[in-house]
Amino acid sequence: MTVSLPRVHVLGVGAIGTLMASYLRQRFPALPLTLVLRNQAAADRWNAAHQTLALGQHTSVQGPLPVTTATPPQVHWRLATGIDAETLTDSSSATSPIACLVVTTKAYQTRAALAPLRARLDSHSVVVLLQNGLGVREELEKALFDRPATRPQFILATTTHGCYATASYRAVHAGFGGLWFAVVPSSNAPSLRAQAVADLLLALPLQPHAEPWPQFQIRLLTKLAVNACINPITALHRCRNGALISHPKHRITIDHLCQETSTIITRYLLEHQMANATSDLAFSPQELCQHVVEVCQTTAKNKSSMYQDVLHQRPTEIDYINGWLVRQAQRYRIPYPTHQALVAAIHAQEAEYRMDKDA
Ligand SMILES: NC(=O)c1ccc[n+]([C@@H]2O[C@H](COP(=O)([O-])OP(=O)(O)OC[C@H]3O[C@@H](n4cnc5c(N)ncnc54)[C@H](OP(=O)(O)O)[C@@H]3O)[C@@H](O)[C@H]2O)c1
Repeated sequence: MTVSLPRVHVLGVGAIGTLMASYLRQRFPALPLTLVLRNQAAADRWNAAHQTLALGQHTSVQGPLPVTTATPPQVHWRLATGIDAETLTDSSSATSPIACLVVTTKAYQTRAALAPLRARLDSHSVVVLLQNGLGVREELEKALFDRPATRPQFILATTTHGCYATASYRAVHAGFGGLWFAVVPSSNAPSLRAQAVADLLLALPLQPHAEPWPQFQIRLLTKLAVNACINPITALHRCRNGALISHPKHRITIDHLCQETSTIITRYLLEHQMANATSDLAFSPQELCQHVVEVCQTTAKNKSSMYQDVLHQRPTEIDYINGWLVRQAQRYRIPYPTHQALVAAIHAQEAEYRMDKDA
């Protein structure tokens, strides 16, 4: 039995939001699609962009994340039209229920962005969360959806596609990767709508993979562990990933981070009854270190997302990466000095450029 979706809303129309909305429009030309914009200024920019999304593709996009080149590669633009928009200020007065909300804000923006939509989301809604890091769903459940019976069905997603915005509603799909997702188990009856959303995602030509929840959690934890051991060091030392393995001082920091991360995640897996021989091995300090080194080698010329955030003086997602590990370590009373030091150092950088902006 197939269920058709009345409409898909996309919240957070930056780089990844433009990618997702553009692909949804291209693949499903008749699907009603609405962008949820922050405010009237964002709506004015949408009108100035002729209510059109532009997604650029390097003519030879293949393989993982982009490598910086001296001459910019040729970009081929595809336009997506026939998309509606509403602002969050309209949303707080609007009452029409939202069937499917694809959320592509940064992790730290999500709660505030979703709050005005709360009254339009219930157990019949499906919310797809596509963010780096961990902890957003739990934060939303605590702050906005404390009653399990009226909670939307969540789908968590993660991607290795690489995308950067060049202007409002204009982004370049610079690295072709994959899109992985899983329906989060809930105490509510299994929703046909969640299946319909899963089918929609699976039909996108973005190398999508639906995974069982336990397998997907391991994927998220692995990605988080690697990001936590690479991103803050590159951001603090303003270096590309490859520099971490050629610098003995950074190698020592990575070793400490891998030790701490391994202990924290092993406890987390035990608590959530996810521990087994494979996960024990994958999250052992040695295996984790080897994995981190391999990622640094294969992405040697890349700037991590946190390094890019610091370069552009944007807030980072540290609270949902190393910060998430710190919160677990605090619950388990496990020492976490290296993660703590890095979180504090990144917060200090963020505070510094916030002060510069306010000056
Ligand atoms: N870009 C990538 O290649 C990539 C790859 C993998 C994963 N990710 C992850 O995907 C997530 C999104 O990343 P991104 O690069 O797309 O970030 P982004 O370009 O900064 O997009 C976030 C968008 O959310 C909007 N937003 C924030 N608060 C809002 C609110 N209250 N109401 C409405 N809109 C709001 C922002 O609008 P304003 O500009 O007005 O703030 C911005 O357009 C992040 O977690 C990131 O780590 C990104």
